[in-house]
This record gives sequence, structure tokens and C-alpha cells, in this order.
Amino acid sequence: MNGTDLPLLRTTVPGPASRAWVDRLARTECPAITARRARRAAALGLSDDDPIVWAQAVGANVQDVDGNIFVDLTAGFGVAAAGHRDPGVVAALHAQAEALLHAMGDAFPDPRRIELMERLCAMTGMDRVILGSSGSDAVEAALKTARVATGRDGVLAFDRGYHGLSYGALAVGDYKAADFRAPFAGQLGPHLRVAAFGGPLPPADWLRSQEIGAVLVEPIQGRGGIRVPPHGWLSALRATCDQVGAALIFDEIYTGFGRTGAPFAFQGEGVRPDLLCVGKGLGGGFPISACLGTAAVMDAWGASKGEALHTQTFLGNPLGCAMALAALDRLEALAPAVGPLGEGLATALRARGLGVRGRGLLLGVTLPTGPDALALSRALLHRGYLALPAGEVRAGDDPRQAVVLALTPPLCITQAQLDGFLGALDQART
Ligand SMILES: Cc1ncc(COP(=O)(O)O)c(C=O)c1O
Repeated sequence: MNGTDLPLLRTTVPGPASRAWVDRLARTECPAITARRARRAAALGLSDDDPIVWAQAVGANVQDVDGNIFVDLTAGFGVAAAGHRDPGVVAALHAQAEALLHAMGDAFPDPRRIELMERLCAMTGMDRVILGSSGSDAVEAALKTARVATGRDGVLAFDRGYHGLSYGALAVGDYKAADFRAPFAGQLGPHLRVAAFGGPLPPADWLRSQEIGAVLVEPIQGRGGIRVPPHGWLSALRATCDQVGAALIFDEIYTGFGRTGAPFAFQGEGVRPDLLCVGKGLGGGFPISACLGTAAVMDAWGASKGEALHTQTFLGNPLGCAMALAALDRLEALAPAVGPLGEGLATALRARGLGVRGRGLLLGVTLPTGPDALALSRALLHRGYLALPAGEVRAGDDPRQAVVLALTPPLCITQAQLDGFLGALDQART
């Protein structure tokens, strides 16, 4: 397996080794975490379908514990944007492992952390950085910064937005396909207002009356169903924020680092946010994220008085920073191919009568009729292709009603692998 392989299935999917591992998983993991499909499928009246258990991955290939080789059109939730186990990222990991595994968060920095922050600022036009470990961390750092800079509690976000599931991030999400909020509603705070994504913006007077200090948006919605707002909508949002003195936060955790064909999805609009959240592909597989901001908002924090007002134990982990620096090299090299690959894929999907939305290699195939996206993702798995539904559903929150199949492959996926996927899709839909 070299990363550019087509699928090779040696057993039924999932095979016996995957099933045995999933049985063990079910004995220890909280049942709410991994969809153990044998049970969930039974509850939904679907065919038995446990997940496969991943053993290794490289480039756009994943191999399971039964030795089956798959082509990954998820990039592991967008993380393997530079490819799974990219050689440059692995070399950086090894080199860093020989020097320093852990520095001391806010107390003692190390050179890789400083280099990474410099690089991120140069790439984005932002001035300051708060590093984190997950996308949710970056979103929460941005919300806190907006609160510190504006003194206002209110947050305006958009329908079907997804910003993570830790409490601060969950409190500003409006994901519809699963009600992540309901069990925790009493602990989420009253500060969220929701407007239509891509729709008319609330009047400035109303935003002032609601004490809105932060406007949080994904320039293209990812989990919410790969939704692209109309051109000019992000600039209108910028103008509204300027009018009411709110900080504009772009959540580019999914869309950043070339996935849409541009370094960042917001860049085609000539808009500059006050705060920018990145994560997923940044670490090349290491859990690291960043909240970037202009000096105007970030410097509102003031200087540390000895106890950092915002930090965490693993802030700027040296392994993560070294891997991120290498991942950024690879992502920059892959970027020119993303637009053409994505356009070719979208054209081929449309030629099949399918609806397509998104940009670059962040595409959503819409399925208003016929098999739903969950059923299609299972049929594709049985043909050696990994793809998952994105949030939008036809009715209620029944996953059998998912209407969008998300395609977010590693940016190094080959044309032959995409052609193979199209063939598998044709078979899966008949
Ligand atoms: C746009 C967006 N923001 C935030 C997050 C949360 O990231 P994490 O799961 O790393 O906390 C995600 C995760 O899918 C995302 O897509």
C-alpha cells in the first residue's frame, strides 16, 4: 500500500478481525461514542454493519485490521489533508522526538512553537496566535477574545453551524442532524442568537440590543451539509460587524489550508476577519489548533501578569508544532492541484444527474431522492471507499434521511482513485 492504491478487499467488510476488535471496544468505551452499527443498525431496521477498525494509513489509503485496503474520501474528518502519514510530517515527528516531546505551555516556550506562530501569521495576515489542541479549543479562544475585546456577551451564529462539542463551542452551535445541545441545554448559557446561513442579516439595531460582541461563521459550512453562502455575504457580514462593533470570527477549521482550492475560503471575498480558527489538517495528524487574531482584538487581553488568563497544559506541544510546520509545507505544495481535481470531480458527479455543492475538495453530493447518504456510505464501504454523510437530513433527525454525502479526501488523492470512486458510486446507486 503506497497511498495511491485502488481498493483491495480480502475479506467481507467488516472482516472478522474488525468485528472482534469492535466487540472488545464495546466492553470499555462509553456507548455514546463509536456507532457500533450491529446494534444501531438493528435498532433502525438496517443490515448489520459494524465499523472497520483501522490498522494503518498512508496517502489516501487506509488499511484495516483484516488487511483490506480502502480509499479514504473523508481524510479522517479532514485531518489527513496533507495525506495520511505524509513522509515529511513523519520525519519532522521523528526529529522532534529526538529533542523535546513536551515544553511548558505558557511558562517555557520552545523554538518550534514560535516558528509555527510566525508561519501562521505570515500565511493568514493575522498578527497574534493562541494555540490549542482541538478545533473546539480554537473556537473557545476566539469567543473569549471577542468577549475581552468588546465587553459583550452575545454571540450571533448561523443555522446548522458546527463549531465543536466542548461546552463553550457547543453553546454556539446549531447543528441540526443530531441534537447535541438538548441534554445539556441547562448548562449552555443564554448568549446565542441564530440567523439564517447565507440569508438576510439581522438589523444593526437589533444586534446592538442583543449585546452581540461576536459573529461566528464557517465561510463554507462543513458538517452542516457543505453549504456555500452567496458571493458577497461574508463582506456584508464584515460590514455589519463594523457597524455594531462586533468581532467577526471565521471558523476555517474544516475549510482552511487549501481544502477549497484557496489557502483559506474567506480569501476570495476580500474580507479580513478579526479572528480566525484553524485546526484539523494543521497538525498533519497531531491534535493541534490555533485561534489567530488581529493585534486590535488580541491585545485587548493585556500582558500576562504571571498567571496566564488563558492556557492549557499541552499548549503548543513541540511534536505538534514540528509536525504542523511540515504539514504546512506539504499542503502548500498540494494546493495548486486541489481546484482542478475538485472541479473535475464535481463535473463528473453533475453529469450523473447528482447535485453538488462546495468548492475544491470540500464537496457535498446532494441526494434528494433514492438511497440516503448513510445507506450510500455503507454501500461504498463495501466497495472499498470511505465517505460519510454530512449533517443535512430530509426530515427530523433520523440518520436514514441524510441527504448529503460529504467528499473531503486527502488533497493528495489521485485522479485514478477519484475515477474508481465514481465507478463505485455508480454501482452503489443501482
Ligand atoms: C467547522 C468546524 N469547527 C469546529 C470543529 C470542532 O473541531 P474539534 O472536533 O477538533 O473540536 C469542527 C469539527 O468537525 C468543524 O468542522
